[in-house]
Amino acid sequence: MKSIYLDNAATTQLAPEVAEAMIPVLRDVFGNPSSTHATGRKAKALIEISRRDIAHLLGCAPRSVTFTSGGTEADNLALRAAVRDLGCKRIVTSEAEHIAVIASSEKMSQLFDIEVVNVKHHPDGTVDCDDLRNILASGPKTIVSLMHANNEVGVIQPLDEIAKACKETNAYFHSDTVQTMAHYPFQLDALEIDFLTCSAHKFHGPKGTGFLYTHPRNKIKSQIVGGGQERGLRSGTENLHGIVGLAKALQLAYADLEDHSIHVRSIKKYMVEGLKQRIAGVRFNADSDKEDRLYTVLSVKFPPHPNSGMALFLLDLEGISCSGGSACSSGATSGSHVLKALGYHDPTRASLRFSFSRYTTFEDIDMALEAISRVFAPIESSATVG
Ligand SMILES: Cc1ncc(COP(=O)(O)O)c(C=O)c1O
Repeated sequence: MKSIYLDNAATTQLAPEVAEAMIPVLRDVFGNPSSTHATGRKAKALIEISRRDIAHLLGCAPRSVTFTSGGTEADNLALRAAVRDLGCKRIVTSEAEHIAVIASSEKMSQLFDIEVVNVKHHPDGTVDCDDLRNILASGPKTIVSLMHANNEVGVIQPLDEIAKACKETNAYFHSDTVQTMAHYPFQLDALEIDFLTCSAHKFHGPKGTGFLYTHPRNKIKSQIVGGGQERGLRSGTENLHGIVGLAKALQLAYADLEDHSIHVRSIKKYMVEGLKQRIAGVRFNADSDKEDRLYTVLSVKFPPHPNSGMALFLLDLEGISCSGGSACSSGATSGSHVLKALGYHDPTRASLRFSFSRYTTFEDIDMALEAISRVFAPIESSATVG
């Protein structure tokens, strides 16, 4: 059975070109980048070339890029640094953020006795900027942490408007851009944003590597202490092959951004149309079918059906890898904190996330649609499971 991978918001396959860039590094460049001899300097040079290439693609200074083990670590570093080093006494965030931001905010409130405030959303999932401005109008020094695109429902937040509200009130602004970096263009130093996070495995790079962008005006310290690597911002011997893979994946993405985006958008549209034709009463959470949503993500709410609770499991049996959101276990489709936060949680209907990449084909979607039609077949003829 052919397996169809439609869970690219969770992770993506490594691009062959990225593997080709990483293998010689793994095989031949074994020096410790902190060693001062030639073998070490060769490794160090690769890190600095990667940093420079990434900075060039994103329009920022190389020193703004701090390599981390991925998005989670970068989110944690931004929030900890804002509280500990920049004096923030309040984090303004949202209940629909990635758990890395939610948990990190909670941790900061326990460790540093700071306040965490959640901003309201409009029914379509976008942040209520009036509520944000009201919150920021008073109160202590603040960092706002709001993601660019939501990983479960694909809603895109107005970064410029949020950045403006932060600037007007002298608040710091962190955005988790894990789902949009390498999928949308960025000019980082032109944005009024203090911190952005990136994770390579969301755009055909290796797992366990990413970075935090820090605006050069912010002087922060490491959350991991030790040998003082990354100019003192992240101790620990660097993941050399991962960093080289990250830079290569970003280069590949930005070399063909427009074409990839056109392809993935047409794939998504094809799936939306196919679902509408086949599944009476199908809906899309937070308007995830709309053009202005994250083009890699489609969050689908199916009509009530006896197979709802087992839909993920049944699709898996059909060879379709998709997701029920970020919080799902044993094939269950309930429990997404994002759907709950945005008011889309409905225990009578399965919500599934299908997410696409430049490698997804129309044939993949045809096969997924057939499998979905079988799982959600009209109730009279369907086999009830569980
Ligand atoms: C929006 C968002 N932020 C952060 C992360 C965490 O990134 P990583 O897996 O690199 O730790 C993810 C990955 O699921 C994500 O989708």
